[in-house]
Amino acid sequence: MGASFAGKVVVVSGGTGGLGKAVSLAFLEEGAKVAVTYRKETELAALKSAAEANAAALEGHVVDVTDEAATVEFVSGVFTRHGRLDAVVNAIGGYAGGIKLWELETKTLDAMLSLNLRSGYALARAVVPAMLKQGRGSIVNVAAKAAFDHGAGAAAYAASKAAAVAMMDSLAADLKGTGVRVNSILPSIIDTAANRQAMPDADFASWPKPADIAQVILFLCSDGAKTIHGAAIPVYGGN
Ligand SMILES: NC(=O)c1ccc[n+]([C@@H]2O[C@H](COP(=O)([O-])OP(=O)(O)OC[C@H]3O[C@@H](n4cnc5c(N)ncnc54)[C@H](OP(=O)(O)O)[C@@H]3O)[C@@H](O)[C@H]2O)c1
Repeated sequence: MGASFAGKVVVVSGGTGGLGKAVSLAFLEEGAKVAVTYRKETELAALKSAAEANAAALEGHVVDVTDEAATVEFVSGVFTRHGRLDAVVNAIGGYAGGIKLWELETKTLDAMLSLNLRSGYALARAVVPAMLKQGRGSIVNVAAKAAFDHGAGAAAYAASKAAAVAMMDSLAADLKGTGVRVNSILPSIIDTAANRQAMPDADFASWPKPADIAQVILFLCSDGAKTIHGAAIPVYGGN
């Protein structure tokens, strides 16, 4: 185990998902205490099992992170139990594609905005006041390449991710000089089990691995990245 996050406390929302699980495991490996939000008991059990000896430093909470009150309650519980919060990674999100805008059901637009925009909004509102009090903290919101690369059939998804990047960029301006940093990352297709199932004929080797993207996120949350604030960082390698 490394120790670059020893004694630090990290929240990973969606921390049992395809990318979130790798992020949670990487922080645990580096000595952090990690509080994840999750929805399925099987996903939390899988994360605990993968964490092996580090599982003692992991706590799981069922929270709907699009619900502001529930998110505030979760975050204040983390502060009460640990007395600090060093980093927050929002790995909640969803995808809807292959639908032309005029054929889109409006409920799909609402779902994209909820998963990809409101989750980061609710989390940031819950954590920033306490991070400002402690004078430090790092927030990383997982957006997508689609925030800038607006392909056909993905209007709702691209708009929701673009809005998420814009929101974090503006938040970064709000937080200038406070010691609290906020950045976005922009994955393209990640090599997750869900993507392999959805695209069985694709070249999986060309897809970035969750563990590699997790390392970028850890760096952004580390003191080594203290000069990176308000960035939107591509994590799609050469693809
Ligand atoms: N996978 C990709 O190829 C890809 C590409 C570009 C960007 N991204 C972005 O990367 C992030 C992670 O993607 P992923 O593939 O790891 O997704 P994922 O496997 O679906 O993980 C997301 C996790 O968040 C949970 N979640 C969903 N809604 C929630 C809510 N309201 N409150 C709390 N938890 C909630 C999900 O639970 P349930 O399983 O119960 O829904 C799941 O555990 C997302 O922002 C995604 O848009 C992914």
